[in-house]
Amino acid sequence: MKQCRGKNLFFTTDCDILGTADIIFVSVNTPTKMYGVGKGRAADLKYIESCARTIAEKCTNGHTIVIEKSTVPVRCSAAIRKILNSYPKPNRSFSILSNPEFLAEGTAIKDLFNPDRVLIGSEQDELGLKSCETVVSLYANWVPRERILTTNLWSSELSKLAANAMLAQRISSVNSLSAVCEATGANVDEVSRAVGADSRLGSKFLKASVGFGGSCFQKDVLNLVYLCESLNLPEVAEYWHQVIKMNDWQRQRFTEKMIKTMFDTVSGKNIALLGFAFKKDTGDTRESSTITIAAQLLEEGAVLKIYDPKVTLAQMKLDLDMACSERTRALIEKNVVYCKSAFEACDGAHAFAVLTEWDEFVSLDYKAIYDKMQKPAFAFDGRLILNNKKLADIGFDVYTIGHSHLKATAKESEFFFNQATA
Ligand code: UDX
Repeated sequence: MKQCRGKNLFFTTDCDILGTADIIFVSVNTPTKMYGVGKGRAADLKYIESCARTIAEKCTNGHTIVIEKSTVPVRCSAAIRKILNSYPKPNRSFSILSNPEFLAEGTAIKDLFNPDRVLIGSEQDELGLKSCETVVSLYANWVPRERILTTNLWSSELSKLAANAMLAQRISSVNSLSAVCEATGANVDEVSRAVGADSRLGSKFLKASVGFGGSCFQKDVLNLVYLCESLNLPEVAEYWHQVIKMNDWQRQRFTEKMIKTMFDTVSGKNIALLGFAFKKDTGDTRESSTITIAAQLLEEGAVLKIYDPKVTLAQMKLDLDMACSERTRALIEKNVVYCKSAFEACDGAHAFAVLTEWDEFVSLDYKAIYDKMQKPAFAFDGRLILNNKKLADIGFDVYTIGHSHLKATAKESEFFFNQATA
């Protein structure tokens, strides 16, 4: 961006320049509606609508291609078309295209330069198809032509929701199996590897976890649920809703496991939470499972010592403030301690829990950490990145999602475990 800025990349808040554009990408936020009809499920389209009205006002002549880049409900383009048409001008025309964004956080630039596919949906009349070709040629500058898929508008809009829903569904599926693994002695990593080796299924997005987070999955699945309800397809809506319910359950299950393992109470105990971001290599905390788990532990009276390489204390407090009940909110200042390293977080703690899969957590000196912790020391791996056998050898009581509970093998802990299981 630094190289291009001022040459062929300009930033402005002046909407008049829209009148000179050949192509306009509408890339505004479409958050889940937090009020009124569809509250908690439907996408809030007020920013899209306001963009459409501004475009209609500012583009006074010639042909303009308007592209929906934001993730929108199916047939949103029909609403944009209606708004654009309601400001008629003699020498002006529009094509509306859908070009959803598939890039993921942390790998955004890689995904942009080397996308699996670029999807462009357009109206199927002559002008729409011509506009589609214009946008195809834009991407063809760096994306192989066979990876640029063209469809009708509705297919493109639905495909974005469908892709995110199916990715989220894979995670919920493997998370549901992680509970079966724990109950039977199967190992979820081994099950994922065996399942993913089937080339029809593939190995990606089969990593069990404390649940998916991020700004897209929950929002888009709920949006799909709402769409299905609006289309009077309750069975389909319920089917996709289960993906979210399973995700919520997995988070709850993890917290309950922590509490149960620590003798049914965490009240007044110091617990180190390693990772607050919704995934590694980003400071984004939106819908992060850590927020839910931390709020549940705070409700139970735990003292949380939290470390994340990228997330600030202010952000953590903001998130926890929203997630906690009024009673617990008043305790955040006292019961949440921001730490500058994993080691600092674990110092004096009864337990640590890995909640984001940051690379640095894999290679920490867990023996030194163990020595500084209260005994018995508990390790909870919500991301399946630690060597649980090694941790048990050090003396930790280890709970890893989708694995059998490993009790400490070191002598000094035996006393506590005998007590715990008695
Ligand atoms: C996602 C989609 O991948 C992307 O295509 C879309 O454009 C936006 O939404 P993103 O939210 O950035 O991208 O992250 P992603 O890598 O998909 O991970 C989402 C969540 O699922 C994270 O919390 C991650 O930790 C979790 N996850 C992912 C798992 O729990 N297990 C997995 O196997 C993969």
